[in-house]
Amino acid sequence: MTIREILKMGDPRLLKTAQPVSSQMFGSQELKQLIEDMLDTMRANDGVGLAAPQIGVDLQVVLFGFDESERYPDNLAIPQTVLINPVIKPLDSNLEEGWEGCLSVPGLRGMVPRWARIRYEGVDVDGVLIVREVDDFHARVVQHECDHLYGTLYPMRIKDFSHFGFVDALFAEQAEAKSIPLE
Ligand code: NI
Repeated sequence: MTIREILKMGDPRLLKTAQPVSSQMFGSQELKQLIEDMLDTMRANDGVGLAAPQIGVDLQVVLFGFDESERYPDNLAIPQTVLINPVIKPLDSNLEEGWEGCLSVPGLRGMVPRWARIRYEGVDVDGVLIVREVDDFHARVVQHECDHLYGTLYPMRIKDFSHFGFVDALFAEQAEAKSIPLE
């Protein structure tokens, strides 16, 4: 079990476009070890997703997953997924605003517009194709994670900066709203 350090916003490594994983790496011990470290790191920080660049690894690897919980009652479960070399396409032009947090931007939350419905494609650790059409929170999490592969952090997508701030200040009067999942 290896919990890796998560880079914070301001680190130039978070602003790069990550390299695609080559097919020779699929199924390799190196790739499996990276994914294990990412899972350990995500869970240790109570995240619902993590991208390889957040631990300083320059590869197009993201993982995400979310069990329905009392802690975050407003969000539906997302299957635990490792997604490599992902591609996202919106299914229509509808955008939805929603709160986001990020393990690389600790203590803050912001309201971010995202595609409401997307199709995403990628491969798993063994190179097996994954194709899904999703909406709502699942679509939001995938867009957030894949943004990390192109050097975009969620604050860069905020349109209304009156809905961006420290979680304790933003939700001082609504205890339940503090439970916005990170990532
Ligand atoms: Ni993030």
